[in-house]
Amino acid sequence: MSYETLIDRAVEVIQSKDDRPLAAGLILGSGLGQFADTLDNKVSIDYNSIDDFPVSEVDGHKNRFVIGDADGKTYLVMQGRFHYYEGYPASLLGVGVRIMARLGIKTVVLTNAAGAINRAFQAGQLMLISDHINLSGTNPLIGKNEESFGTRFPDMTSVYDKDVIDAVLEKADERGICLQKGVYCMLSGPSFETPAEIRMLATLGVDGVGMSTVPEAITARHAGLRVVGMSLLTNMAAGIEDIPLSHEDVNRIADKAAGRAATALRLILETVAEV
Ligand code: HPA
Repeated sequence: MSYETLIDRAVEVIQSKDDRPLAAGLILGSGLGQFADTLDNKVSIDYNSIDDFPVSEVDGHKNRFVIGDADGKTYLVMQGRFHYYEGYPASLLGVGVRIMARLGIKTVVLTNAAGAINRAFQAGQLMLISDHINLSGTNPLIGKNEESFGTRFPDMTSVYDKDVIDAVLEKADERGICLQKGVYCMLSGPSFETPAEIRMLATLGVDGVGMSTVPEAITARHAGLRVVGMSLLTNMAAGIEDIPLSHEDVNRIADKAAGRAATALRLILETVAEV
């Protein structure tokens, strides 16, 4: 299904509320929503003010668009995303990104909470996504190809913009901001992984694991958008430490890291404007 009507409707509502030119779009994952609160001159648009717009039932997702300024530029933020595990069709997961594309946005910054698999990483750290592995079992582009957005078989050789990654890491280093870099893998969820699955993912070269982001990244590249991805590593993945995982703990650690996540996001936005 194309969701073309839903996309048009959302674009119309957003433009009717605020027509400032947008420098980039952001999707804020579990526990990362607080960044939106730090923007100036904010305008909020609840997802449920747009007919048939999906909402996330997951704790920690505010279900609204926020348009606001940071360092003299205006950004469109999705404060909360919807997930495959909530039962939404894969193609719907790219709707937010397509709205951004229709609004003329050229760069999207995708964030999530993830479990750390790389044993050199620590819970609470941030990881720039260098590449992904899609083990979700689906793809947001399944179905009729929307030629107005992109080609049937989009290239995925460089999903996450390398120039931005290199520049962000260099600046982070200069400013003493700790940022890891690694491969993100999406599984469908909603159950967390088993220790055996985590051992398998480690063998495959995965550094961080989660339940989102990949559908949006694929949809964005299909539409020719530049993609930057960042994971907040809220926990060591299952079995790495002898601790059971819970969404409450994920949100608690994300809350504690909110300030550092916001600093890293500002660094990314500053870099995106330059590179
Ligand atoms: N696994 C999957 N998703 C997650 C995790 C995890 O360990 N932590 C936060 N989101």
